[in-house]
Amino acid sequence: MIQEIFGKIHPLVVHLPIGILVLAMILKMYSGYRYQQEIKTLMPLLLKIAFAACLFASITGFVLHLSGEYDDTLVHNHMYLGIGLTIMVVGLYFTFQHQRLQNVLWVTTAIILTITGHLGGSLTHGEHYLSLTKHEDIQKPKIDMNHSVVFSDVIQPILQEKCVSCHSDKKQKGDLRLDSYDHIIKGGENGAIILKGNSAESTMMKKIHLPESDEEHMPPKGKPQLNNDEIKLIVWWIDNSADKDKTIASLSPGPDIKPLLLGLSQQTSPKEVQLPKIGQADPKVIEALKKYGIIVHTVSQVDNYLTIDLTYCKDLTQSQLNELLPLKSHIIGLKATSCQLIDELIPIVSQMDNLTTLFLDHSNISDTHLSPLNVLKRLEFINLAHTSVTNAGLKQLKIPSLQKVYLYGSKIDKNSLSNIYDQFPTVYLDSGGYVVPILVSDTTEAISPDK
Ligand code: HEC
Repeated sequence: MIQEIFGKIHPLVVHLPIGILVLAMILKMYSGYRYQQEIKTLMPLLLKIAFAACLFASITGFVLHLSGEYDDTLVHNHMYLGIGLTIMVVGLYFTFQHQRLQNVLWVTTAIILTITGHLGGSLTHGEHYLSLTKHEDIQKPKIDMNHSVVFSDVIQPILQEKCVSCHSDKKQKGDLRLDSYDHIIKGGENGAIILKGNSAESTMMKKIHLPESDEEHMPPKGKPQLNNDEIKLIVWWIDNSADKDKTIASLSPGPDIKPLLLGLSQQTSPKEVQLPKIGQADPKVIEALKKYGIIVHTVSQVDNYLTIDLTYCKDLTQSQLNELLPLKSHIIGLKATSCQLIDELIPIVSQMDNLTTLFLDHSNISDTHLSPLNVLKRLEFINLAHTSVTNAGLKQLKIPSLQKVYLYGSKIDKNSLSNIYDQFPTVYLDSGGYVVPILVSDTTEAISPDK
């Protein structure tokens, strides 16, 4: 109990000696080689307060270290330096009359303070907390449905992201490390956490399934949580005997797991599309479109691409739609949700050679409209939810750049979707039933689904 309290207090109180010592250092620098008179009277008091603060921080830190949850060398270095700093403050206080010694001691104190603080930061935030590259940016393997290994390519990256900050050689909460297969199998202070082949009886899954408010829930409340897809994948791995070396193919994932694996590979390495630079669109054309109720947004301040939203213009005529054509290369996102003019629209859309995102949900699109879209060489996302598109129509869609297709509420037969997965080995098909991840390539708010 007391360790828990100190564990929370220590990271707070350490800022106190840091603040006081920095203030003292500023005063020292301000007065130069010799203390000025007013600083000379103030300094001993500051040093006394700094000593009290250092002592308090050292004691809370020492008790925290007794809990043994932290990596040894890092903790020990941090601790010895912290105690060293306290002694330096004592030294500064008692050598106050020796100007030359004071200067040497202040420089040493500044150095020790910096290193102690840095090590402390490494303990709480992880060793790379100063690095500007986000951890997520560091290579994540792309999932290859034939050769990727379930544990190392799917499960380990999930644990790495959501668990290892507290369960590694640096920090071993619950005496548990989750940073290697052998450690995971070995378990924690209460023994094994995984019962191979039986996720329901595995301690790890029990903790994950507990309500977030429960103290034993993992990851603890307030920390980044596992999403449903990640939980399903871990369950799938454990139920398939939690093996270290088995490949995805050897476990032949069913239609419930396959889309999750594909989704994972998409989320972890979103493809960056490099669009060519393009000149400004004709403002007169844009003005005219706006008069018909068409919403036109520029994608960003730096380039001239546009997104178009037709949602609020039910009564457009063919000639009004044709006025989109002068902008055909500018349009990278088109939202035609609920559009009932698909016969007229598709020939126009198929000329939008830079189009990456296309919403046709709730529209009157049918199977015959899909093949004309195959000329769109940059299309990554298409929403066909709540349309009459069937498996036969989907089969005609042959767009290499395609990454995601939403099919929820369409006439797609989910049971025979697995054939279609073979046609779209790298496409994330969403037919409903689980949380839809936010589309990475969704460039503007204008085309987000809730608008
Ligand atoms: C913010 C820190 C933190 C994160 C992140 C975290 N844990 Fe924990 N974990 C703890 C603490 C603290 C304990 C010890 C709790 C206790 O003993 O009551 C613990 C204990 C456990 C235990 C029990 C070990 C045993 O033998 O009793 C399991 C299993 C576990 N964690 C799994 C996970 C998994 C899986 C994740 C990621 C999905 C995770 N933890 C993420 C802090 C964390």
